[in-house]
Amino acid sequence: MKSNITSFYNPTEKVLVRSEGCYQYDAEGKRYIDFESGVWCANLGHSNREVNSFIKEHIDTLMHQGYKFRNNYSEELSVKLQSLIGFNGGSSVFLSSGSEAVNLSIMVAQHLTGRSKILKVSNSYLSAYGFGQIKADNEHQVNIDYNDYNSVNSVDFTDIAAFVIETGGASVDMVKFPDKEFLEGLVKKSKSCGTIIIVDEVTTGIGRHGTWFGFQHYDIVPEIVVTGKALGNGFPVSAVTFNADITKRFSSEGFIYAQSHQNDPLGCAIGLKVIDEIETKGYLLTCKERGGYFEERLNYLMSNYSKFVNDVRARGLMLAIEFTDRVDGVVLHNTLFDSGFVVGFKNNTLRFLPPFTISYTDIDSLIDCIEAFISKSKA
Ligand SMILES: Cc1ncc(COP(=O)(O)O)c(C=O)c1O
Repeated sequence: MKSNITSFYNPTEKVLVRSEGCYQYDAEGKRYIDFESGVWCANLGHSNREVNSFIKEHIDTLMHQGYKFRNNYSEELSVKLQSLIGFNGGSSVFLSSGSEAVNLSIMVAQHLTGRSKILKVSNSYLSAYGFGQIKADNEHQVNIDYNDYNSVNSVDFTDIAAFVIETGGASVDMVKFPDKEFLEGLVKKSKSCGTIIIVDEVTTGIGRHGTWFGFQHYDIVPEIVVTGKALGNGFPVSAVTFNADITKRFSSEGFIYAQSHQNDPLGCAIGLKVIDEIETKGYLLTCKERGGYFEERLNYLMSNYSKFVNDVRARGLMLAIEFTDRVDGVVLHNTLFDSGFVVGFKNNTLRFLPPFTISYTDIDSLIDCIEAFISKSKA
């Protein structure tokens, strides 16, 4: 079918018409179990009833605003995010996408330090464009290899405004977590050199790792935290939250930043509702429990089919299974899709970031489908 959508990636021919919870339905009525939460946004499930009823109630009251006003939702959401992060007396700005928020956080760090570059662990995916974009000739970046302790000493920090951290790489690395010692050491060194610590929690934040934020698995104290994706459960809202010191040091003199959807009330109200749902329904625990079960099931595949499975990686509900070359990953991925499972795939690795409401039964049926495929490869 000819599509009128410019082709920056290659979707299948399937037309999505409805999503509910962990399920998505195409135009032919076929059901898919979404183990990717869209693009890792719908942590509380697609079309979450409580969140969507709230949106319906609020949309007619206050959706968008101009620069002359403040609104209470953005004030409240900033206070809430600060308390979850562990900041007090800081501030936030709200935008629409993770890329915008990451780039703005870096611009603020550059403004405060008078330095131009960022330090990042190679392969971290920070933004679709700009300072964080993965591009061989991105002159704004100094990259350090994953878990390479020794290379820390060769980094010249004098022009590094910020160390931008991804506490779980779901994109390029298909689920990888930096070692504690490596990350904590790098943060300590960066801080001692006046480099600002930004944690990019666009994917790991809002519960994905079974904690509010991925950085909470480490002994590190960020100065700026960026959230997005799951903050709106599918509605586009992102946030940059600054600690009290950065807030105090920041002066907008010489620094103007304006975007049409900056601090829009509806997005902030939705963010508050999403956080409230997670708190009142105990979704962090749900994420930990279901993530633990999912990991066990992947480990079952690894121990029973050791010649076919190289590795299992997991934290909360961010998981991956890496196969040996005895498994044809492309065929496996296509088989899963045809069987109604939406999963991430690259280089013989499958990735799973399902909604926290994923059922044990749906996890089991995915494992059964993978096992049947491996058993056939074995024959
Ligand atoms: C860690 C991380 N940061 C930033 C982004 C960019 O967010 P967005 O696609 O909303 O611009 C992504 C997107 O996948 C991400 O995974």
